[in-house]
Amino acid sequence: MQTMAIIGAQWGDEGKGKITDLLAEKSDLVIRYQGGHNAGHTIWVNGQKTVLHVIPSGVLHPHCTSVIGHGVVLEPENFLNELKKIKTVAKVTPENLKVSATATVITQYHKLLDAAREAQGPEKIGTTGKGIGPAYEDKISRRAIKVKDLLDKDSLIRRLGVGHSEKAILFKNLYQIDFPSIEEEVERLYKLGQEMKDYVCDTFSLIDESLAKGKRLLYEGAQGILLDIDYGTYPYVTSSSTTASGIFTGAGIPNHKLEEVIGVAKAYTTRVGEGPFPTELFDELGALIQTKGNEVGATTGRKRRCGWLDIPLLRYAIKSSQLTSIALTKLDILSNLPELKICYAYEVNGQKVDCAYPGINLQHAKPLFKDFTPFKDDFSESKISNDLNTYMSFIQDSLGIPVSIYAYGPDRNQVVFKKNLF
Ligand code: GDP
Ligand code: IMO
Ligand code: MG
Repeated sequence: MQTMAIIGAQWGDEGKGKITDLLAEKSDLVIRYQGGHNAGHTIWVNGQKTVLHVIPSGVLHPHCTSVIGHGVVLEPENFLNELKKIKTVAKVTPENLKVSATATVITQYHKLLDAAREAQGPEKIGTTGKGIGPAYEDKISRRAIKVKDLLDKDSLIRRLGVGHSEKAILFKNLYQIDFPSIEEEVERLYKLGQEMKDYVCDTFSLIDESLAKGKRLLYEGAQGILLDIDYGTYPYVTSSSTTASGIFTGAGIPNHKLEEVIGVAKAYTTRVGEGPFPTELFDELGALIQTKGNEVGATTGRKRRCGWLDIPLLRYAIKSSQLTSIALTKLDILSNLPELKICYAYEVNGQKVDCAYPGINLQHAKPLFKDFTPFKDDFSESKISNDLNTYMSFIQDSLGIPVSIYAYGPDRNQVVFKKNLF
């Protein structure tokens, strides 16, 4: 298989980092194509934890080239800090880490705008506060600066000047907050650009040539399908294309066939930030799953909201990214729970609905649950119990695509492959 994609099938934090790291072992390139350091991808290897934000999750495999594609929004200071940290555990050089010259830069202004808007009150999104939305806004309105601009002071001055007076009015008059002058921001960014310049290249050509040479490409999504700017639960979404379609615009392989598109899903559901969540548990059981699953945001440290697995959401995720299989994670967290349920459909305006199509107001979707006998597997043996088999078979049958991988612990080897992916 030459091209594979890992996509979050829920609202993020499904375990994409873990699955990407696993599959990176047999990949040549691991490519991020959207999002930024709002992502937090956790990998455990032999008891050692690594959290990645914008650097792809193949980076622990020295043979793998990690690529930050042009669809990503990159905050240079965060990137350099993350790089410094990762260099203590992995061999990372300009040979095996590449940043697109045309990725969009997140500036101080973007971070300030994100924070100021979120502080405004009732209509907040619950963002990660990393400046993601404002950076993508500038990209779409053609005012952004690109990574290549960091390497040339004149370009920086010119590009940062575009739209600056508008932002200054917002900072001064509306939000009443201090903000750096263009000169200060140019100096800061130029210095950062000099530190990262060896990693910057034309990743489009790199990917194009790698495909021609028959190299194996693994695309790593950030966030999840329900956070997609077009397909997600708008406005409670992130500002990028998190579905498989984002690969074609964010990394430069228009219409190249993706042979396997793995949707990563937790065996239950979580969400951070605001927005509808039909199967959310507000009781002790929700709190138990949150604690047992250590459901705390890897980027912001916020508690994740928890609820039962939601089949209508996953059916929609499958359709909107043409998923070919599911990687089901965190089964161990559901083991030994006092009760176990799956939402198999919703009731909306008295009608049964099987798929969370965008026309459905999730706020008013009443989840219909099927009860399962709680399984008690400790996963010390390769054979799973009948109860767990019933739970997984129901998921697979309801979704109509196979569970290709299931995971029962955070470590690299706490996983079972049910489908030969290479
Ligand atoms: P990502 O953003 O999709 O990469 O996921 P995160 O890293 O934000 O969150 C997933 C969390 O679950 C991390 O702490 C992982 O170490 C952990 N994890 C992944 N798979 C499993 C699993 O099967 N069982 C358990 N207990 N933890 C897992
Ligand atoms: P990974 O890749 C979970 C959520 C935020 C907020 C919304 C918008 O680790 O799965 P943003 O800062 O992107 O403008 O915030 O999106 N969000 C995530 N939730 N996992 C993530 O990434 C997320 N990245 C953003 O909580 O609700
Ligand atoms: Mg995460």
